[in-house]
Amino acid sequence: MAEERPLVLVTCTAPVNIAVIKYWGKRDNDLILPINSSLSVTLHQDQLKTTTTAAASRDFTEDRLWLNGEEADVGHPRVQACLREVRRLARKRRGGSAEDTAPLSLSYKIHIATENNFPTAAGLASSAAGYACLVSALARLYGVEGELSEVARRGSGSACRSMMGGFVQWQRGERLDGRDSLAHQVAPEMHWPELRVLILVVSGEKKQVGSTAGMQTSVDTSPLLKHRAEVVVPERLALMMRHIRERDFEGFGQLTMQDSNQFHATCLDTFPPIFYLNDLSRHIIALAHRFNTHHGHTKVAYTFDAGPNAVIFTLADTVAEFVEVVRHSFPPATNGDQFVRGLPVGVASLPEELLTAVVTEPVPGAVRYILHTKPGPGPQLVDDPSQHLLGADGLPRCRA
Ligand code: DP6
Repeated sequence: MAEERPLVLVTCTAPVNIAVIKYWGKRDNDLILPINSSLSVTLHQDQLKTTTTAAASRDFTEDRLWLNGEEADVGHPRVQACLREVRRLARKRRGGSAEDTAPLSLSYKIHIATENNFPTAAGLASSAAGYACLVSALARLYGVEGELSEVARRGSGSACRSMMGGFVQWQRGERLDGRDSLAHQVAPEMHWPELRVLILVVSGEKKQVGSTAGMQTSVDTSPLLKHRAEVVVPERLALMMRHIRERDFEGFGQLTMQDSNQFHATCLDTFPPIFYLNDLSRHIIALAHRFNTHHGHTKVAYTFDAGPNAVIFTLADTVAEFVEVVRHSFPPATNGDQFVRGLPVGVASLPEELLTAVVTEPVPGAVRYILHTKPGPGPQLVDDPSQHLLGADGLPRCRA
């Protein structure tokens, strides 16, 4: 059989997610077990996705990995943990027999190629989508089904939440072996059809302290983080689930902003302190609050992860007006026509009193572009063989 089909190829795509109750801190660094549960919204893959092709062949002499066309270290402990776990599940599924008689032997070496449909330079979190995609593709390759969030978690904590669409909770779990630290879907992506997401991609600024190192220092030094994990998050999680269930934007938006702010407060409480928010982030925060105050209720909600881009949640009927407010507040330096990307945005003209109340001190060029997206589904299998990132020789294809 192997003679006829020397190469088996599988391609999957996976989404980015953005947490509204943040994960920050591990109780086990190796198994990637968090100190608190978290909750996120999976973003639509039409705008942001990772694509991964995994191939196995008895002709391959070593495992290899390519990221955006460049060969990368397949020996990375987190990549290896995912590979090992998927193979373990495959072995279990095959009955654990010592004799490996399945058409695709678990001893074959594998090649993996992965690409993002968004520029890495944009600083958008890619490890969650990356590991969710890796695990999805490997699982398909080896015919493994069922609970895979536990495996994706071994790549990156937040990756377990990218294994499902819509609104997803990563349950902290109690067990030492992490078997109960899993992601669950709270509501599917169509649950809240009006919900929209605007990512404000900001200029300059490389990533300062990475999440993995940053959260470790926070666990070691921040008393606020301990209080957050033990007391604040359990209460907020229950509340957030209710807001989502009831599609209550006022409640959802306020809690999203508060939780982002508390996450950044724990960063400031870390010693030495970590600063992910900068002057521009604070500008965007103040702008959102002026906008909401002007309207008399929560129309937009910001959240920031371990980087400078702002993610704004809003409802479809507010998108055009808020985008116009951003355009006035951060007048695009160049490429004015490319300022808004992703889902179409309608035109809005801003009433004079809104402009006066909301747009103070414009900062030209500070926001590079806005990406308009919405909640979306979990990982997908790509059927079309022309989409494989690896060719018949098992090497990355040159794609037009
Ligand atoms: C601020 O999942 O990137 O985005 O588990 O060490 O890989 P590791 O960390 P990672 O941390 C994400 C932190 C966050 C909040 C969140 O997504 O919940």
